[in-house]
Amino acid sequence: MLGIIGAMEIEVATLIDAMEISKKETKAGMTFCCGKIEGKDVVVVKSGVGKVNAAMCTQILIDDFDVDAVFNTGVAGSLNNDIDICDVVVSTKAQQHDMDVTALGYDRGIIPDMEKSVFEADSKLIDLAKKSAKDAGLEINVFEGKVLSGDQFIGTEEAKNFLKKEFAGDCVEMEGAAIAHTASLNGVPFIVIRTISDKADGGAEMDYPTFEKKAAKNSISLMKQIIKNY
Ligand code: ADE
Repeated sequence: MLGIIGAMEIEVATLIDAMEISKKETKAGMTFCCGKIEGKDVVVVKSGVGKVNAAMCTQILIDDFDVDAVFNTGVAGSLNNDIDICDVVVSTKAQQHDMDVTALGYDRGIIPDMEKSVFEADSKLIDLAKKSAKDAGLEINVFEGKVLSGDQFIGTEEAKNFLKKEFAGDCVEMEGAAIAHTASLNGVPFIVIRTISDKADGGAEMDYPTFEKKAAKNSISLMKQIIKNY
């Protein structure tokens, strides 16, 4: 069983529409839709926005739905000048940028008493995503990169530059690293696949609503091909 998480309706609706649904189960306010896409067993769920929702959702997928892998699809702000609006970022790794225990001497982003604070995506899933992007014949550029997550929408040049300098991230969103963290602690492979909706700068407030739909659509088209190839 493949688990697929999107934070918002727009990030999962088309995928759920494409599903032969066999069962729906609601837990912690999240509806888990089980069924088949491209003949494969999947469970698709809208987690809600932010790291807490995303972590809870991932743990439920693992405990109650016995998923073999967790995919996170959706949109993100670009932190890399080479990665433009509507391009796709496939995660190599993910980190929570708002973890800050610097006051106690830890480096920014380091989670005290954890073996890891940067979570590596599964290499087979990275290859699968790259191959699927080619197979889908989508007119989109696909990049591998580091995904940063925090409970903040990044929309100023200053905040963007800070994240680039401190964490060398390629894109920023609000759930991926929490999913990565939860999946990693449970020994379940994960990958984050995000289409760029804005550049996380002063224009983000305008770009996000303009490109959100198209960006979410790109992620879902790629997700469908990944499911087919899985
Ligand atoms: N998701 C899409 N764009 C984002 C941004 N600029 N900051 C945080 N999450 C996002």
